[in-house]
Amino acid sequence: MDAIYRTQRHFYDLTRKYYLLGRDRLIRHLSPPPGGSVLEIGCGTGRNLIVAAKAWPDAHFFGIDISEAMLETARAKVAKAGLSDRITLAQGDATAFDAQALFGRPAFDRVFQSYTLSMIPDWQGAIREAAAKIALGGRLDIVDFGQQNGLPRLWRKALFAWLAKFDVSPRATLREAVEGVAAAQGLEADFLPLRLGYVWVARLSRV
Ligand SMILES: C[S@@+](CC[C@H](N)C(=O)[O-])C[C@H]1O[C@@H](n2cnc3c(N)ncnc32)[C@H](O)[C@@H]1O
Repeated sequence: MDAIYRTQRHFYDLTRKYYLLGRDRLIRHLSPPPGGSVLEIGCGTGRNLIVAAKAWPDAHFFGIDISEAMLETARAKVAKAGLSDRITLAQGDATAFDAQALFGRPAFDRVFQSYTLSMIPDWQGAIREAAAKIALGGRLDIVDFGQQNGLPRLWRKALFAWLAKFDVSPRATLREAVEGVAAAQGLEADFLPLRLGYVWVARLSRV
């Protein structure tokens, strides 16, 4: 990931604004409980964590990413936003990480994965791992590229070819994977395509 992001991280936020759709919707709906905890897995430049920390001033935020280059940018942005006391960052692999060792807590009121599963080879493992980090009464929110079902076939072909250049593969069986994790871990699952299937959102809740 460092090889992909070492240069891109400098113009990442500006360019992704126009095509990583659904991120701000996810943040608007986070609604962490007062004093609650929120973990972003694959936090990249920290853009989402900063927007979320400003939107939800009572909550504490945590982020992991596998790329040390991305985390370097994230740390600088968080410090510039004056949020270093509310956003804690650490290096970790979405498919296996020890939240207790990294952040001193095993689970979080809100966990989210934004445009990260489409980059992780063992993305089903990353969903399992994230779901295991949901506190009682909490949930995991996922937003990622959909299969573009409501859009022209040529659009889908061009988009997927372009995303492949960045090692991004929209996950056709995301819904099935989320439902499988829900069944295995005793969670409730919801799934919703948005914007003609450009974006897929999924939610796992521990009720
Ligand atoms: C497309 S970026 C999305 C960043 C951010 N979530 C956003 O919405 O802007 C994907 C991020 O996932 C990270 N990533 C990829 N594989 C990972 C893994 N196995 N564990 C943790 N992070 C990973 C990348 O380093 C990158 O920062």
